[in-house]
Amino acid sequence: MALAIRFHDQRPLEANDSLREEALSGFAHSPKSISPKFFYDRRGSELFEQICKQPEYYPTRTEEMILSQAANDISDIAGAHANLIELGSGASKKVRLLLEAMRPASYLGIDISEDFLLSSTRRLAADYPWLDVQAACADFSQPMSLPGEFESERSVAFFPGSSIGNFTPDEALAFLHNLNALLPAGGGLLVGVDLVKDKQVLEAAYNDEAGVTAAFNLNVLERIRAELDSNIDPQRFVHHAFFNEQASRIEMHLISTDAQDVDIEGERFHFDRGESLHTENSYKYTPEGFRSLAGKAGFKAIAMWTDPAHLFSVHYLQRI
Ligand code: AVI
Repeated sequence: MALAIRFHDQRPLEANDSLREEALSGFAHSPKSISPKFFYDRRGSELFEQICKQPEYYPTRTEEMILSQAANDISDIAGAHANLIELGSGASKKVRLLLEAMRPASYLGIDISEDFLLSSTRRLAADYPWLDVQAACADFSQPMSLPGEFESERSVAFFPGSSIGNFTPDEALAFLHNLNALLPAGGGLLVGVDLVKDKQVLEAAYNDEAGVTAAFNLNVLERIRAELDSNIDPQRFVHHAFFNEQASRIEMHLISTDAQDVDIEGERFHFDRGESLHTENSYKYTPEGFRSLAGKAGFKAIAMWTDPAHLFSVHYLQRI
């Protein structure tokens, strides 16, 4: 059956996502770094799905539990016939919990990856025949516009998974300002935010016993080797993740096991033994810290839900 999805193409003219450019500039920088956005090719996305099932990685199952318990409250706050805008995948169990409780008039999935967006929105359209499903291929961290029916104060944007934690606080603020410009006054923002907690619990979540997070981290080097002209050997690097208490963030690094030279696209980069390539930050907030950040971007805190152990939080914010 052909499923009717309204598709809006708002792809940026200049894709700012070249592995080549960013590897060359990040490896030349001191300290060396590369953006975590390069984790997510097909294999990286599969590994991330596996991470979410690891016993040590509490965020996914905790957020799902919070959402399943709060779904009716969220629906009451959003009001009848709210429209739901999902920033990201559309593939998760989380959005389904909301769709079932809220029964929104319309759903809009926004993602930069067209394939992923179309397959996940088609699945939603098949499973929820009563729902008007729309898809916008866009980079939601950049200025964009919403289809007409979503420019209503009844629209609620959903940004789960503590993906906001992968931005620096300054980037998170800029991102929230951008959402403020996107949403109409009175519109809602439902956002999942990982909380500051015991260092051991945090570090275990990014150092699972099964080694899935390590494989996910090393996958960025596999991509450089496979997609660029490079002799980089992922086996000469090891995964390292720790909680930087001062910065309130998990840092992920790949550490060179020996002194080595790595060639990428005709350029040579030297690693000392023990030198790091910084691959990801995952910021952890207190509830007050996150509310204060959201307040600076013009959002009013309406409600927050958490789990009994205060591992994770889901905030309902309103665009002022
Ligand atoms: C996607 N993001 C919120 C995950 C996180 O926890 O920061 C990515 C991740 N990195 C290692 N494990 C999971």
